Amino acid sequence: MTDSTATSPVEYVSVATQHTYKDSVFPQIVVNNGRCKTVADTMAFVRENQSELEARLAKSGALLFRGFPIESAETFDTFSAGFGYPNFTYQESLSNAVRINFTERVFTANEAPKDVEIFLHHEMAQTPISPSKLFFFCQSAAEEGGATPLCRSDKLFEALKAEDPDLARDFKEKGLKYTTTMPAANDANSGQGRSWKSTLSVATVEAAEAKLKELGYHWEWLEDGSLKAITPVLPAVIDLDDGSEVFYNQLIAAYMGWKGVRQNPSSAITFGDGSPIPKEGLERVSVLAEDFTFDLDWQDGDVAIVDNYRAMHGRRPYSGERKRVVLVALVASER
Ligand SMILES: [Fe+2]
Repeated sequence: MTDSTATSPVEYVSVATQHTYKDSVFPQIVVNNGRCKTVADTMAFVRENQSELEARLAKSGALLFRGFPIESAETFDTFSAGFGYPNFTYQESLSNAVRINFTERVFTANEAPKDVEIFLHHEMAQTPISPSKLFFFCQSAAEEGGATPLCRSDKLFEALKAEDPDLARDFKEKGLKYTTTMPAANDANSGQGRSWKSTLSVATVEAAEAKLKELGYHWEWLEDGSLKAITPVLPAVIDLDDGSEVFYNQLIAAYMGWKGVRQNPSSAITFGDGSPIPKEGLERVSVLAEDFTFDLDWQDGDVAIVDNYRAMHGRRPYSGERKRVVLVALVASER
């Protein structure tokens, strides 16, 4: 099924696995009908249709571009820069993933090994500084697996409210605190193995402490030289301009994916007042999220824009000889 006009260089396509809500589909899929032959054609299309694309993205939470001539980190840089959004660099972020930069704007999504699942999260919602949008580019899809699951967190919170209003209210009113341990040196074998020096963009213990203080963290140095840091109270739920409430946090990724957290959740996540989050609640939210998740099965050359305030993302494990290369560019918040 398509919806387009005779003169448009693209078609808005529906696929069977797409989610359909009252006023939107998730994700929106934009397919090049062959008229965007070059990067210049593509950028002209973006310029002419940016407000329509943004309106669709705002409603849906994710926009997939398929069949466009985007083939390299450089052309992806051009594409993502073409929207004119402020850049959010990996260096200035407090991301806990190890990544490699290709251009100033473009870096690898996550260097964690292929059998490691990265569970659903809002990018950097466990830190006080998070990006507003994410551009993903699939340069080379995995042979098997490797989808990027995308989850509508507004729909998730709506469902949680209906099912367990007390827990939903606790999340909204109390917020969350995260405890993370940043290693002394980068560990690429972990989904959150970025060293404290790199995470905080500092060279010394004194500079690290000054930065943490400025951001409102509590911290403790461990014997092996790693740094245990506790965030200030961060939201578990945010309100968007259209009135929707979004389950905006890293709870599922922390609970399901961080080492030892399923056994002892309070070691990494508590309510903002320090009280424990019931384990049944953490389990339930993690399962419930699957109902609102669309698996984006990448094709080479796909580009997706994800609204980080409405949709979570993750990474399914993958296998095969072919190297999966998914690159990312982040947009700074204007909120
Ligand atoms: Fe992420």
